[in-house]
Amino acid sequence: MRDGILLEGPQVSSLDDYLSRGGGEAIREVATSGTDGVIGQLEASGLRGRGGAGFPTGTKWRSIASGGPELGDRYVVANGAEGEPGTFKDRYLLRHNPYALVEGLLIAAHTVGARRAIVALKASFEIESARVAAAAREMNDAGLTEGVQIELVLGPDEYLFGEEKALLEVIEGEDPLPRLLPPYIYGLFTTSPQLGWSAGSRLDTDRAAGSNPTLVNNVETLSTVPSIIRRGADWFRSFGTPESPGSILCTISGDTNRHGVGEFEMGTPLYEVIEQLGHGMPEGRAVRYVLSGVSNPVIHGDHIDIPLSYEAMEAIGTGLGTGGFIVFDDRTDPVELAGAVSRFLSVESCGQCPACKLGTVRITELLSTSDTAIDPSSLAELSARLANVTDSARCFLPSQEQRVVASLMADMRTGLARNPPRGLLITKLTDLIGDRFELDERQKLKRPDWTYAEPEQSA
Ligand SMILES: Cc1cc2nc3c(=O)[nH]c(=O)nc-3n(C[C@H](O)[C@H](O)[C@H](O)COP(=O)(O)O)c2cc1C
Ligand code: SF4
Repeated sequence: MRDGILLEGPQVSSLDDYLSRGGGEAIREVATSGTDGVIGQLEASGLRGRGGAGFPTGTKWRSIASGGPELGDRYVVANGAEGEPGTFKDRYLLRHNPYALVEGLLIAAHTVGARRAIVALKASFEIESARVAAAAREMNDAGLTEGVQIELVLGPDEYLFGEEKALLEVIEGEDPLPRLLPPYIYGLFTTSPQLGWSAGSRLDTDRAAGSNPTLVNNVETLSTVPSIIRRGADWFRSFGTPESPGSILCTISGDTNRHGVGEFEMGTPLYEVIEQLGHGMPEGRAVRYVLSGVSNPVIHGDHIDIPLSYEAMEAIGTGLGTGGFIVFDDRTDPVELAGAVSRFLSVESCGQCPACKLGTVRITELLSTSDTAIDPSSLAELSARLANVTDSARCFLPSQEQRVVASLMADMRTGLARNPPRGLLITKLTDLIGDRFELDERQKLKRPDWTYAEPEQSA
């Protein structure tokens, strides 16, 4: 990376430290640039959301700001739920510098006309919550939050908490069960009937009066905004590729020598990230698969020179996701890997859509075989289940199942004897201890109804 955008220099220790590095300048510029000026800069910068889908940030902000007062109040939300397996970058960033997030959130609030701004984090993220609360307090005391109330909402450990429609439910005090309609159509604290678990029957896909359009952006996305406003869209575009400007935070975990988080210019080849953060593979081992979280088709070992960009990943049929790469070595069996991903998704599925819950659970069963080869009838049923697991889905989780498992089917079909099981666990990363991530081992005990089995007592 030529020059870091987000992880520049040592950890930011206080508001004074942040201001001395140019922080706080962007929020002052908002008053002169106005809504159109700020959104124009974001559009020109080409910034794309870092929450997984890469949606253009300027376009999203424009849609929330548009429509006039009859649509109701506006809200802005920072999504810091970070539950994607293999991803730790938002927590790393918040530990390094929570001030950029708060400034980005304030810029968003002023730009779309919101008076309440919410930072949503898991209750278990204690270090990050303390850092964000202190930063918000300091910025408030310094008069930088003018007219905007910043609130911290602490949510559950469930994977779906990070899904934006479920996130809004949690902010309103409900369980993390995705609503039907996205936040820009059906925002926070609307007065119309709930379209969620306790759903109303009305399904309007046009924004109605009082729908309170709500902006939800990932922590990394919002933290990038102040630098763009302060240094300009051209500066941001001087990094990366034309379709994927800027830098991205990457997480490396799995079978590499080391684990870690770092910032890379878009367009950097994946193997360089594996080398720099992961220090390569252990002696005698090669990369067989890389997963970018559990949302995208697997990247095969012969593709690890792929550049980190939305367009390059799309060209090989996969996605950049949240830049959280789990590396698997050449001992990895495709059936076991697909089964481990499927188990995670089947347990985390909330069950509001039958095809998703029943389908992911059955796919996990089919992949849980210990036979030396997966039999043709199981493969046929697997294909059939994958074809309809997304039927009437409220959220993207079953599409993730479809994308990851289908991408491993060709390797399952080869008829080769299977590699011995490795006890693969797909789960959240809970902390970075030295150069290794700690995994959330409790996932092994989590049942599809979100309760936990008792750990087996050792004799
Ligand atoms: C099952 C599921 C889990 C998700 N978890 C997260 C998460 O932990 N953090 C996040 O920022 N986005 C997560 N997302 C994506 C959000 O729904 C949303 O697209 C994102 O916060 C938008 O921010 P962006 O435009 O800045 O990328 C998840 C999506 C799905 C389907
Ligand atoms: S698609 Fe699956 S995870 Fe998403 S709301 Fe429906 S049942 Fe829940």
